[in-house]
Amino acid sequence: MIVVTGATGVVGRPLVEFLVGDGADVRAVTRDAGAAKLPDGVEVVEGDPRSPATLAAALEGATGLFLHPRAAGDASAELAALAKERGVARVVALAAVNVEDDPADQPSRYRGDRNKEAEDAAVGSGLEWTSLRAGFFALNTLTMWGGQIGAGDVVHGPYAEATEAPVHERDLAAVAARALLTDDLVGRRPVLTGPRSLSYAEMLAAIGQAIDRPLSFREIPPDAFKAHMMGIGLPEAFADAYLAAIVKSVGRPALVTGEIEKILGRPALTFAEWAADHAGDLRASGG
Ligand SMILES: NC(=O)c1ccc[n+]([C@@H]2O[C@H](COP(=O)([O-])OP(=O)(O)OC[C@H]3O[C@@H](n4cnc5c(N)ncnc54)[C@H](OP(=O)(O)O)[C@@H]3O)[C@@H](O)[C@H]2O)c1
Repeated sequence: MIVVTGATGVVGRPLVEFLVGDGADVRAVTRDAGAAKLPDGVEVVEGDPRSPATLAAALEGATGLFLHPRAAGDASAELAALAKERGVARVVALAAVNVEDDPADQPSRYRGDRNKEAEDAAVGSGLEWTSLRAGFFALNTLTMWGGQIGAGDVVHGPYAEATEAPVHERDLAAVAARALLTDDLVGRRPVLTGPRSLSYAEMLAAIGQAIDRPLSFREIPPDAFKAHMMGIGLPEAFADAYLAAIVKSVGRPALVTGEIEKILGRPALTFAEWAADHAGDLRASGG
C-alpha cells in the first residue's frame, strides 16, 4: 500500500495512475475527496498533509509514502516521523534541482513551496528514502503563457534566449513510481531534467507547432514583466528571484542530466511530445 500526498496535482495524478497500472494498492490523499476525480480502485483519503495527524490512519499498514512538498508545506518532517511510527518502510520526496541554492534565490519558496524541507525530511526520516530533484516542469509554459496564447499569437516575456530543459510531468511520475516500487533509487537524489536544452523562444515555437499557430516571442523589459507579475498577485520577492534566476541562463545551455533515460531505460519525453499531449489545454487556454 502506497500513500500519495499531492495526489490530485501535476505530478501526483499521473503517479497514482502509474502505481495503479503497476498493480499497487494506493491511498490518495486530498483535502477534498468530493473534487478529487481519482481512478477507480484508488482509496481516496481526505486529509491535509500540513496537519499530519489527519493522515495517521491512512499511514497504518502502508509500505511507502510519496511526500509532496507543496501539499506538506512546513510539516514534512512531522509527516515523515509519523510515517515511521506507523511502520512505513520507504519515503520518496519530490524536491527541486535548486534545493542547495541559497533559499533567497529559490523563487518557489516565496510561494510557500518547501522542497528542501521535503528532501531533508526524507533523508533524515530513518526510512529508506529517495529525493527527486526535479527541474523545470514543461507545464510551467502553460501557466506562464496560456493566457497570452488565448489572446493572440504574440507572447511577451523578458528573455527570449533564456533556457530550460523542460521535463514532462509524466516522466517525473514514472520515476517516482519506480522509486516507490523498486529498490533502484533508494538513498539517491537524482536530478530529473528534460532531454534537451531549449530557449524560451524555442519552447514557444514548439507549442505553436503542436497547436498549428504561428506563435512568436516578443521581448519586453524585465521591469515591465516584473510589474505584470506583481499585477497578477505574485509577491515582489518571487518576481525578483525568478528574473534573477532566468537572466543567468540567457544564451547558456540548461543542465541536461540524462537521469530519466537511465532510470526508466527509455528516452525522456521531449517538449514537443509534452506540447502534443497538452495541445487541447493549450488551445483552450486563456478562454
Ligand atoms: N514547477 C516547476 O518547474 C518545479 C520544478 C521543481 C520542483 N517543483 C516543486 O514541485 C512542487 C509542485 O508540484 P505539483 O505541480 O505537482 O504541485 P500541485 O499540483 O500544485 O499541488 C499538488 C497538490 O497539493 C495540494 N496542495 C496544493 N496547495 C496546497 C496548500 N497550500 N496546502 C495544502 N495542500 C496543497 C493539492 O491537493 P488537494 O487540493 O487535493 O489537497 C494539489 O493538488 C512544488 O513544491 C514546486 O516548488 C516545481
